Amino acid sequence: MHEYGVEFPCGGKGNCGKCAVRILDGQMEPDPYHRKRLEELQLGRDWRLACLSTCQSDLVVEVGQFETIIQADETPFEFEPGVGLGVAVDLGTTTLVAQLLDLRTGHILAVETGMNPQTKFGSDLISRLEAALFKGTEELTEMIRIRIGEMIDALCLEKTDNLTKIVIMGNTVMQHFFCGSDIKPLSFYPFESPDLGLKQFTFRELGWKVECEEISFFPSIGSFVGSDILAGIVATGMHSRESYSVLIDLGTNGEIVVGNRDRLLCASTAAGPAFEGARISMGMLATTGAIVSITAIKNGASYRVIGDAEPRGICGSGLIDAVAVLLEEGFLGEFGEILSGEQEIMLSPPVTISQKDIQEFQLAKAALAAGIKILLRQHNIEVGDIENVYIAGGFGTYINLENVIRTGMLLCPAEKMHKLGNSALTGAKMLLFSDSQLTDDILDKTFHVNLEGDPDFQDIFVDRLSFTPPSS
Ligand code: FES
Repeated sequence: MHEYGVEFPCGGKGNCGKCAVRILDGQMEPDPYHRKRLEELQLGRDWRLACLSTCQSDLVVEVGQFETIIQADETPFEFEPGVGLGVAVDLGTTTLVAQLLDLRTGHILAVETGMNPQTKFGSDLISRLEAALFKGTEELTEMIRIRIGEMIDALCLEKTDNLTKIVIMGNTVMQHFFCGSDIKPLSFYPFESPDLGLKQFTFRELGWKVECEEISFFPSIGSFVGSDILAGIVATGMHSRESYSVLIDLGTNGEIVVGNRDRLLCASTAAGPAFEGARISMGMLATTGAIVSITAIKNGASYRVIGDAEPRGICGSGLIDAVAVLLEEGFLGEFGEILSGEQEIMLSPPVTISQKDIQEFQLAKAALAAGIKILLRQHNIEVGDIENVYIAGGFGTYINLENVIRTGMLLCPAEKMHKLGNSALTGAKMLLFSDSQLTDDILDKTFHVNLEGDPDFQDIFVDRLSFTPPSS
């Protein structure tokens, strides 16, 4: 089923329940453990967890998952014309996007999108690191190299002799997998890999058909701040302005960059997973069936579902809206407690939000808010000194900025916030037109901050857990 795009978010351990399939025709009896998990997940008689199932005969099943929306990018940017064709690749944990550009004109000639085949080993980075530690990195390296190579083949078709440059961006773990680097240092505290630099390949080394002698995987900035964030910095231009900017990417981790042309400080927080649907009982990525925005709950829920389908879960932007509306309509107290004393609130059948989900949201928003506060402090500046806040990634596309402020995730005025879209891809395209001097200059003034190592982090984090305005 994985070959057909079905994801196994917990890596097939039977924990997440998100690989559920409904049997329409045929028989597939669950074993006692499988049956227990189905009961715990409150899945009906016809449902099975694909990862715990073995077919004994032909089956017809309905898959509970739908197609993920993959964000390409058409953001205009300035460039010095180059020679030949180039390909920019955003190698995401979940999704892959590649664009073919004419380097003389900057025109996008073709786009290819796809799912990262490594999702077979789990949707999150931890599951994939575990899989690599257990079985070795080779399979994960090979499968991603093959898939990206296929996408580039599809992009180029017969135009292969003119391809001069391929630029690839991704988070630190993806960089290690693609480049075949040792992932062990990323698996244990202090999570510091000695192998973060620029990696260059030729098509022969990667076993690709399409002929290109300059294939670069751009350098990571720190343990969990990858070249996708470096590309985001390039896309915003924050590295060249005197005024201060904040870049936030609520993807896999929740990375933050704060700074200006003199110095950029970056950090990763534990804020990402909640906004990608992990750890939220009915959480899901922004795919068909996800509640993506909510404007009312009390007197008849008012919401939008991706694909105009029946709601079947809630994605990150919907979660922010849900919490903001629950606060607004008096369902929640200032510490996030459900005031009725119940353990969950119905948003729209079957989608509920539980007390534990709200706590997860609070942990994520407090980690993000505390991270920004620490980086501002290290710059000796206040929120008022920030000129622009950029919110990157697919997540940013749907969020309601007023609700971001209402929930205390970010405390700057909405007019200073900008939704960036796929900034990793925009930055990758911009880097097709420059040499490595640009990224060397940015890396020279970019410093990775270990938030947990800051003595004030815990206090600020606890202060930001509640929904009351912060004390400072
Ligand atoms: S229960 Fe998580 S992949 Fe099957």
